[in-house]
Amino acid sequence: MNATIRISILAAAMIAAAPAALADSDHRAKALAMMKQDFVTKGQATADRVSEDGLQAICNRTGNKPPEKIAQRLEADQMAAVKYPADGKLMGDWKAGEKIAQSGRGFTWSDEPGLPVGGNCYNCHQIAPKETSFGTVGPSLFHFGKLRGNTADMQKYVYGKIYNAKSFSLCSEMPRFGHIGALKEAQIKHLVALLLDPESPVNK
Ligand code: HEC
Repeated sequence: MNATIRISILAAAMIAAAPAALADSDHRAKALAMMKQDFVTKGQATADRVSEDGLQAICNRTGNKPPEKIAQRLEADQMAAVKYPADGKLMGDWKAGEKIAQSGRGFTWSDEPGLPVGGNCYNCHQIAPKETSFGTVGPSLFHFGKLRGNTADMQKYVYGKIYNAKSFSLCSEMPRFGHIGALKEAQIKHLVALLLDPESPVNK
């Protein structure tokens, strides 16, 4: 799991786990102080990753349940910032996608800056059947294309979801891979193919 993802999960967990007797702001201040003590900048793994952005702040302060109208507006803002490929092609090579889904490398202090970052998808999802070790934070994606089809709309949904999960579900726990610059356009296309290509083992 890369450092950004690990820290954001930790931050969410620590803030959510604080006891109810203290005021919210006290919890937050204590949790942040604790994290800032432990997470120090080392190489490309900068400590500012502990800081939430405005959108995450709304989720953190409302128990992941912001008022619906606000959530819809913010989702629309996130959606408008999704950069779709200029060539209009959203499906790459599922074999390359499987390697990206398997890889949890990248963005840590021990990774060489500039090298491609992994998608770490198995950490939260069941995907292709050959990989039997997977997390269950997210839903199973096995048979995703078989069940949902691979129409232009479905390709667009999956590309956008990987680019920025929060453009569909504001307080999603899925990292915003494209939005934060972790995954590049070609990598996201390969992942779309992994999930939607009829030849991918995901859909066999
Ligand atoms: C930290 C956990 C986590 C990681 C890592 C993660 N996801 Fe997710 N993902 C989730 C969760 C939780 C959901 C369900 C909530 C939502 O829809 O946002 C989800 C939903 C999805 C969906 C929508 C499923 C549906 O039924 O519409 C897709 C597609 C998806 N993830 C693909 C991926 C891919 C591809 C990767 C790797 C690049 C990935 N995820 C990495 C947690 C994760």
